[in-house]
Amino acid sequence: MKKIRIGVIGACGRGSLARFCHNIEDGIELVAGADIYEDKLARFVSEMKEKFDYEPAVYLDYKGMIQKENLDGVFVTSPDWCHEEQACYALNNKVAVYLEKPIAITTEGADRILQAAYENKTKLMLGHNMRYMNFTRKMKKIIDSGEIGEVKAIWCRHFINYGGDAYFRDWHADRSKSTGLLLQKGAHDIDVIHWLAGAFSERVTAFGSLSVYGDLPRRDTDDDGKVDVSFNNDHWPPLEQKDFNPIIDIEDQNMMLMQLSNGVQASYMQCHFSPDACRNYTIIGTKGRIENYGENDGQIQVWKTRKGFDMTGDETYDLTAEGGGHGGSDTLIAKNFVEILKGSTSTDSTPQAARYSVAAGCLATESLRHGGTPFEVPKLPTELENHCFADNK
Ligand SMILES: NC(=O)c1ccc[n+]([C@@H]2O[C@H](COP(=O)([O-])OP(=O)(O)OC[C@H]3O[C@@H](n4cnc5c(N)ncnc54)[C@H](O)[C@@H]3O)[C@@H](O)[C@H]2O)c1
Repeated sequence: MKKIRIGVIGACGRGSLARFCHNIEDGIELVAGADIYEDKLARFVSEMKEKFDYEPAVYLDYKGMIQKENLDGVFVTSPDWCHEEQACYALNNKVAVYLEKPIAITTEGADRILQAAYENKTKLMLGHNMRYMNFTRKMKKIIDSGEIGEVKAIWCRHFINYGGDAYFRDWHADRSKSTGLLLQKGAHDIDVIHWLAGAFSERVTAFGSLSVYGDLPRRDTDDDGKVDVSFNNDHWPPLEQKDFNPIIDIEDQNMMLMQLSNGVQASYMQCHFSPDACRNYTIIGTKGRIENYGENDGQIQVWKTRKGFDMTGDETYDLTAEGGGHGGSDTLIAKNFVEILKGSTSTDSTPQAARYSVAAGCLATESLRHGGTPFEVPKLPTELENHCFADNK
């Protein structure tokens, strides 16, 4: 059995995803990790030893890891602004890439990544794990079965109670490193909306503002990587919080409208100072409507008969979350990358879809910073649009 050698760039935080692949009996080894912080590398090694009794190699320079480790694939799980450079370097060195969302912080950057994979005939898969969650999969199945007819409208409301912990204390708050949260966070939901509708956005517009976190006490130092960004329910109410990032030039609430190429009209609303956390999607077709209450351990209701106000649909589907991170989706998506390395070409998370979610998110951000001006989403060149990136031919 040929051993599959895997590495990870950005060893902690989201880098923990790569640990799901490590399986010596199946010949898959997470042989090395790269990170710019010594303490993160030490934590990576100690977790690998504790969980698998295995000691991976470590690198402060990701290029050294790519050059020396003869990798079959690499997880790029570093912050968003590093994705383009690191993914292109790996692809240019013929190492297959699993790249976290968002694919890049600009549309041009995303296109350069697709181009690098295409020219080097090297596999590229994206980390849109929401496509592997049970509630989005169930909604997709109901839609594809025709139960609610032809989809015409999709609305997503996104309540984020951990916004002040996760996005306003480190690099996320700095638009030069993230663009903004319609892209950084919204890339997930824009992608799910595209997936459920079966088409990409061709026109977008948005409004947004920095309504709460802008005037709160900030740290003096830019000590990215040392800041505690863990979620804490005691961090409430928002206006009494402190220790925010020295730079905050992104918005903490955003509202975006999308016109999709198949005529579906969609909206995505995001708020980062809500007391509760949930994504709430509703999809309206020509024969019915569906809505999720809660996410992976919640419910999906389906309305198929005409009636007045009734929170309970004609049908209810109960959902049960699996273990392994984000309702079980992290295990599934990491395994999908291993299957692709072994020769499968099947994935729900394509570079093209990731690119269109970034293009829509970037232009919506541009729109909200220019008084809500609508923008047309540029199309990918035909050769990239039609390419199978899970194949390396
Ligand atoms: N799909 C999901 O559900 C999901 C969830 C969380 C984060 N993410 C994505 O994962 C990525 C990482 O997010 P995070 O919150 O873990 O970030 P983070 O700031 O915790 O960084 C992740 C790791 O990268 C390391 N790192 C920082 N700069 C680096 C550099 N220049 N080169 C190499 N390593 C570097 C950090 O030390 C850390 O170990 C982001 O792109 C984010 O959007 C996705």
